[in-house]
Amino acid sequence: MRVAIGSDHAGFYMKEEIKGFLSKMGVEFSDFGCHSPESVDYPDIGRQVAKSVAEGEYDRGILICGTGIGMSMVANKVRGVRAALCQDEFSARASRQHNNANVLALGARVIGPGLACSIVEVFLRTDFEGGRHARRVGKIEAIEGEE
Ligand code: RB5
Repeated sequence: MRVAIGSDHAGFYMKEEIKGFLSKMGVEFSDFGCHSPESVDYPDIGRQVAKSVAEGEYDRGILICGTGIGMSMVANKVRGVRAALCQDEFSARASRQHNNANVLALGARVIGPGLACSIVEVFLRTDFEGGRHARRVGKIEAIEGEE
């Protein structure tokens, strides 16, 4: 499991917490920035992380901004990315089991670091269920083909 992680300034401290958690889990990751709490534009980092997942360089992506909304919008513009904005473990589990989400978006101004780490753990440990869900994910991909 290789993870690409990135944040804007609003998500910087949460990113650092999650990196520590990933290390404890023994998960390999690359940090796409930002590298300080100085203001940056979330689309710049979100795009890079999303592309690296879409191109198969990484298995999953984790993106953090203030709400998670901007990062999820950016990531979902990249073909092949299915980004899920999650604020609870139930949604994180379902995003993997039902939607085969490959990018997790988190809002550092919405949830605390403890919950964020639990969500990350569920997101990384849960498998896609396939079956009827594969048909539905296929329909998402078909929409990408129309664009
Ligand atoms: C930055 O102030 C904030 O707009 C950003 O982190 C994010 O919440 C955007 O969706």
